[in-house]
Amino acid sequence: MKILAINGSHRKGKNTATLLNTVLDEAAALGASTELLELSDLNIKFCAACNKCLNKTQCSITDDMAIVEKKLLAADGILLGSPVYWVNVTTLMKNFMDRSRYLHLYKNVLDGKVGAALTTAGLLYGGQETTLKIMECFLQFHGLHVVDSRDPNEAIMAPLVAGSLMEGFKDGKVIWRRNAVDDELLATSCKQLARNMVKLIRQLNK
Ligand SMILES: Cc1cc2nc3c(=O)[nH]c(=O)nc-3n(C[C@H](O)[C@H](O)[C@H](O)COP(=O)(O)O)c2cc1C
Repeated sequence: MKILAINGSHRKGKNTATLLNTVLDEAAALGASTELLELSDLNIKFCAACNKCLNKTQCSITDDMAIVEKKLLAADGILLGSPVYWVNVTTLMKNFMDRSRYLHLYKNVLDGKVGAALTTAGLLYGGQETTLKIMECFLQFHGLHVVDSRDPNEAIMAPLVAGSLMEGFKDGKVIWRRNAVDDELLATSCKQLARNMVKLIRQLNK
């Protein structure tokens, strides 16, 4: 079982990467082989809107998207991570989404895989739910089965992996976290997300 995480953060190895790695570590402990792909390492050009992908599963641009395609096709589970930029995904993540159109339009070649998404932001209530929904809709349009971090045995656990650097507000001052993963509830949700992904991949591959 392969789980591929794609990081849309413009900062490699920071908060979003830490959260993605927390999910991947748990998935690896459950027997999955895992990989974290940093979009910031790749050279992916903008979609040219040439519409050639209307009639065939092919993109007219030759660049590092071919690397991503290979990894997407080989994966059983695809985990997207993006920090919130203006209540939205980052430019890198949106560009990846646009360029993946050829894998979806003529034929949904990623159909039937398991998908999940996570996000983090600077602020509490900084646009996390909207950003997460954008990534989950994208995965659903590609035909993936999208799981969240709901623990089936624990009704009060957070169903969303939506972090923040802002911990709260006390005595007129904002309290900041060093890293989003320092939120214990969020770290627990990351692990549950991994368990839910692995469980569904196993069920689908039976
Ligand atoms: C261009 C830009 C836009 C941002 N927009 C938001 C926002 O709308 N809401 C928010 O809470 N944080 C916003 N942030 C803060 C990031 O979401 C936050 O720093 C996050 O932890 C970055 O993830 P990283 O550590 O993986 O880079 C923005 C940051 C940048 C650079």
